[in-house]
Amino acid sequence: MTETATGPLSDAEAAKYRDEFPIFDHTIYLNSCSLGPPSRRVQNALRQYAEDWSQYGAPAWWLRWLPQLEAAKERFARLIGADVDEVTISHSVSSALSSVASTFDYSDRSEVVCADLDFPTIPYQWLAKRRDGVRVRFVSSPDRIAVPEAAYQQAVGRNTAAIATSHVFYATGAIQPVRRLAEIAHDAGARIIVDGYHAVGAIPVNVKDLDVDFYIGGTLKWLLGGPGLTFIYVRRELIAELQPTISGWFASADQFAFDAEHLEWPDTADRLELGTPAVATAYAGVAGMDMIVEAEPGRIQQRIQALTDDVVRRAQRAGYGVFSPLDSTERAGIVMLEVSRPQETVAALGQRGFTVDYRPGLVRVSPHFYNTESDVAALMDALDDVQASL
Ligand SMILES: Cc1ncc(COP(=O)(O)O)c(C=O)c1O
Repeated sequence: MTETATGPLSDAEAAKYRDEFPIFDHTIYLNSCSLGPPSRRVQNALRQYAEDWSQYGAPAWWLRWLPQLEAAKERFARLIGADVDEVTISHSVSSALSSVASTFDYSDRSEVVCADLDFPTIPYQWLAKRRDGVRVRFVSSPDRIAVPEAAYQQAVGRNTAAIATSHVFYATGAIQPVRRLAEIAHDAGARIIVDGYHAVGAIPVNVKDLDVDFYIGGTLKWLLGGPGLTFIYVRRELIAELQPTISGWFASADQFAFDAEHLEWPDTADRLELGTPAVATAYAGVAGMDMIVEAEPGRIQQRIQALTDDVVRRAQRAGYGVFSPLDSTERAGIVMLEVSRPQETVAALGQRGFTVDYRPGLVRVSPHFYNTESDVAALMDALDDVQASL
């Protein structure tokens, strides 16, 4: 691969990356939307974490760990087109959303708009605030694949604090028109909060182009760095006015002053941080994200589009329902197939050497850039066999 390479990642380039993933020695892995597999460089990074801990003890914080956490923020910032001080670290999407949700004053505007297709933890942040009079207004999907823009337009109004929704829906792969949703929110004087877990790493993301206020992502899935590390982007102009009501000493402007009586926030997104981060995740996360930066999100997206197109084509030929957008420009790395008895189907496919998963009523197939057309062909043949045998 050269820096000037364009077009989808080639088979040869993909094969070079695939060689770094031991998981392919025993299974055809097509479940990156659930959990990205570990590459050898991620495994080495975790070993390095253990060595640094063992070598230095507490000074590892200064010598290795804080720089590694900063590197993780820098990689994520680069992947979403943000500045590093607009990005902070969290532990899960739930904790990240919870920090963001705590910055709103709901007395003027008490509604948050979410989609019925969103991952539950998104609306849960506000359903949990019922006692404070906060209400979640759900927009719904008529086709169970995507939500029409008009539904957001109708739901957002003078009482809307924010639209909080996904960039890519976890159970359909549909890419939402986030820039348009940001316009709808802003026109009504509301904010937009986006969960980009299934976007960053699978499609190019630029938070400035999207014009979002908050954007959350993490290393669990498409960024290939494992669980326990998420990020919150905050639009620079908003940082100074944010007053989170959950906090911790990592959110303090001068945490090593140990001034228990005063909480001063920094003018960076770190004012949304909580307590001591899980440092091992930064080692794994940087190694995972480096591979995505290197392979280039634009080229990854094109390869994923070709692979998911292939899944769709073969599924249609075999007569399975497809509950994902048929147009590859509206779809990220997830294709949902309507088959009979999905749970048993996934187990039977597992026995035949394929890793995919299911959601209610559907099998979920999610190729990443290291997958190939022959993975897809073999999976779809095996699916036919399994369906015939049920
Ligand atoms: C879109 C989306 N958001 C969030 C999560 C998980 O949230 P958390 O990090 O809080 O477990 C998932 C699934 O793992 C998801 O698919």
